[in-house]
Amino acid sequence: MEDNVLKVRGLRKSFGDRDATVPVLADLSFELHSAGSLALMGRSGSGKSTLLNILCGLEQPDAGELTLFGQDHRQIDWQQLRRERIGVVFQEANLMPALSLLDNVRLRASLAGQPESRCQHWLDVLDIGALAQRFPDQVSGGQRQRAALAMVFAMSPSLILADEPTGSLDRVTADDVADSLFRLQAETGCGLILATHDPELASRCEKILDLAHQAADQNTGQSGL
Ligand SMILES: Nc1ncnc2c1ncn2[C@@H]1O[C@H](COP(=O)(O)OP(=O)(O)O)[C@@H](O)[C@H]1O
Ligand SMILES: [Mg+2]
Repeated sequence: MEDNVLKVRGLRKSFGDRDATVPVLADLSFELHSAGSLALMGRSGSGKSTLLNILCGLEQPDAGELTLFGQDHRQIDWQQLRRERIGVVFQEANLMPALSLLDNVRLRASLAGQPESRCQHWLDVLDIGALAQRFPDQVSGGQRQRAALAMVFAMSPSLILADEPTGSLDRVTADDVADSLFRLQAETGCGLILATHDPELASRCEKILDLAHQAADQNTGQSGL
């Protein structure tokens, strides 16, 4: 795996038209090495999801450099990258309701070109192996989020983007799910970028990028890292 997964320099993004432009990301610079973890912090509306969307090609930056796996963002086949190398986890698990948990994981693995034979293993290591044949509406929110993690790890990703992955769970369940996420991230050696407004969760990442303090960081010449 490449040593430098991600390099961002002077990234800018605004929304709106010429009359009313809202700057969301202002001159962001940071890097992520392989197996590194970075928390994106900041209150609601500070641009966490916008940045994650840019990092998986669903939004375009207005300006700045973005290099992912050594490739300039303008050259990237984003669909292929999202299918094979970037796993995305949202606040609510994005499962197919008509498929069992195991079939959800199998589908994700096969799209990524990974063996379906390992899918039960991923449910087992996420402590929901016994629920493999249940459908998403037959398990709890925490178990659904564990299934979403099983789907992402089954694709053998190089990078995981997690947008408030425990935001809809109670504290104890959220901590359990976060434990699994960090443990498997360390074991598999993939990169992790996690958006959260929870300082405790953010502190579990190696580095924190505080989007609420973009302007202050620029003033001190720091990138936030
Ligand atoms: N597609 C869009 N069009 C216009 N404004 C947007 C769009 N997406 C996000 N925004 C605005 O950008 C800001 C940052 O939003 P977001 O990235 O969702 O923040 P966060 O995830 O930190 O809560 C907000 O003011 C939001 O309204
Ligand atoms: Mg968000």
